[in-house]
Amino acid sequence: MRLVSTKSLKENTYLAKPIINDSGQVLLKQGVLLSSRMIQRLIDLGITFVYIQDKLTEDIESTEGIAAKVRVEATNTIKSEFNQICKDIKLQKSFHNDHLGQNFSKVIRSILAEVKGNPKAISLLSDVYLYDSYIFTHSLNVTIYTLALAIKLKYNEKQLMEIGLGAILHDVGKMAIPTKILNKPGRLDPEEFSIIKTHAQVGYEILKKQPNLSLLTAHCAFQHHERINGSGYPRGIKGDEIHPYAKIIGICDVFDAVTCNRVYRKAMLPHEAIELLYSGVGTLYDKDLVEAFAKSIALYPVGITVGLSDGREGIVLKQNKELSTRPIIRVISENNQQVEPYDLDLMKQVNVTITSCEAVLANE
Ligand SMILES: [Fe+2]
Repeated sequence: MRLVSTKSLKENTYLAKPIINDSGQVLLKQGVLLSSRMIQRLIDLGITFVYIQDKLTEDIESTEGIAAKVRVEATNTIKSEFNQICKDIKLQKSFHNDHLGQNFSKVIRSILAEVKGNPKAISLLSDVYLYDSYIFTHSLNVTIYTLALAIKLKYNEKQLMEIGLGAILHDVGKMAIPTKILNKPGRLDPEEFSIIKTHAQVGYEILKKQPNLSLLTAHCAFQHHERINGSGYPRGIKGDEIHPYAKIIGICDVFDAVTCNRVYRKAMLPHEAIELLYSGVGTLYDKDLVEAFAKSIALYPVGITVGLSDGREGIVLKQNKELSTRPIIRVISENNQQVEPYDLDLMKQVNVTITSCEAVLANE
């Protein structure tokens, strides 16, 4: 299978993985022959990448995300709890929910089991996501990235639960923001942006009152937009004043935001998003955290097409666990000439580097 952007899809291509929406409904079955109408629908739904069948890469399998069942259950919990909070805010009810902490703890435990059970670098690129539920999918993706990074940092069970809950609830304060502003395509004006910024404090106020939730979890919502040089919000705190949980969630938040297609801009690929994070090392983010994050995600996800420095082109076959910049490649062409496919381990070919991902056409 091969990973391609929906915007570069051609008709008469076979889908290699089913498209399931976040309610667990199968939108398109595995093996379906894509028509131009179906392709347009995928784009309209906000789906950025899909896996397609391809003769040269029939044996490539992607297992970098989390099980569809866990994803659907988690999204359902996020949806129903967040919507309840939204209603209570509108009714100006003081929000107090005995089950919130318990329900989310259950979700975090199942996501944690998935992430632990899959030691591979994480890629969520081909997981479906729909515009009208961006916040739910985003909350889940940030949780998966956060837990993968926290595991890499050898956090203990208690810490994993605290940071996992902090991640899944980091944007809960957005339930108090008018949807007109929240879903506005394009740039926000200064007034709208100052309204958006209130979500950090509002989230903290909601979470700190909840039984079964640690105060640290509430601080994740409060501090996830703070940056180490003090340029963040709401308080502009710096360096060690920011809790490590919030620093981690902040990094995962930015990464997920820029690798998803939004109405007003196209998605970045993982290696580009990591470059963006690296450009903020020392000013916005801690170096060790960005480095650990780069190791926990798939920089070049399985199935993605890459160009090599010596003129060869291929498809990522497998990750090299310790060095995500040097995966194993199925070479399919040399200097634009198709060749009999063969595999190349970039760990063993240190003079060759990946120079492009252009064939994915994510940014055409
Ligand atoms: Fe946020």
